[in-house]
Amino acid sequence: MKTLTKVLLSLALGSSLFAHSDVYLTNNSQVPDLKMLKNDLTFKEIEGYQNYKIVATHFRTDKNEIRYILANPVAYNALTHHAKIMPEGSKVVKIGWSVKKMPTWAGALEADKIQRVEYMVKKSNRFNHNGDNWGYARFVRTKDGYKAWTKGTKGCIACHASVKNDDYLFTHFQKTF
Ligand code: HEC
Repeated sequence: MKTLTKVLLSLALGSSLFAHSDVYLTNNSQVPDLKMLKNDLTFKEIEGYQNYKIVATHFRTDKNEIRYILANPVAYNALTHHAKIMPEGSKVVKIGWSVKKMPTWAGALEADKIQRVEYMVKKSNRFNHNGDNWGYARFVRTKDGYKAWTKGTKGCIACHASVKNDDYLFTHFQKTF
């Protein structure tokens, strides 16, 4: 195709598809079919998490990793209203990226490679034995995909217990204005 035709076509498509649109044209790729060994939580459980809303951003200085925390609608509503106990069905997802210098601006860092996707889901019928009613899952990025965390979730529960009074969540809703 001639370049001019290409440009015209992309302009036409671009303006009709994207301009003045208040609707997200999502392009979610399917998450892999993976399952945690011990608690059976799957990656599919959070299928579509790319559409969840971001509630906080964290930076782990020890791991040099930027993290976005996203919440499904039920968790989002509870977090924005500072609920003491998160409701059933709450899903809180964390995406971690390594960082690199922005090639176009050395003084800025940008997210580089995804390192992990992990989540907590409130399901009291399945996770009441945890004491917190949360199930934990972690999927670690590998060279060619993801693998489920195999070391169990005792460590997750133990560390998150340090914020027991906040329903085991470190995240607080980050104001955006
Ligand atoms: C040694 C402590 C520690 C362990 C172990 C740990 N976490 Fe966390 N987790 C944190 C801290 C601190 C944060 C907040 C900072 C951040 O986003 O990394 C957090 C945040 C999260 C969040 C976002 C919600 C929140 O609580 O803020 C999820 C989801 C999460 N962790 C899942 C897991 C899962 C799944 C495991 C186990 C596979 C796990 N964590 C193990 C300390 C821990």
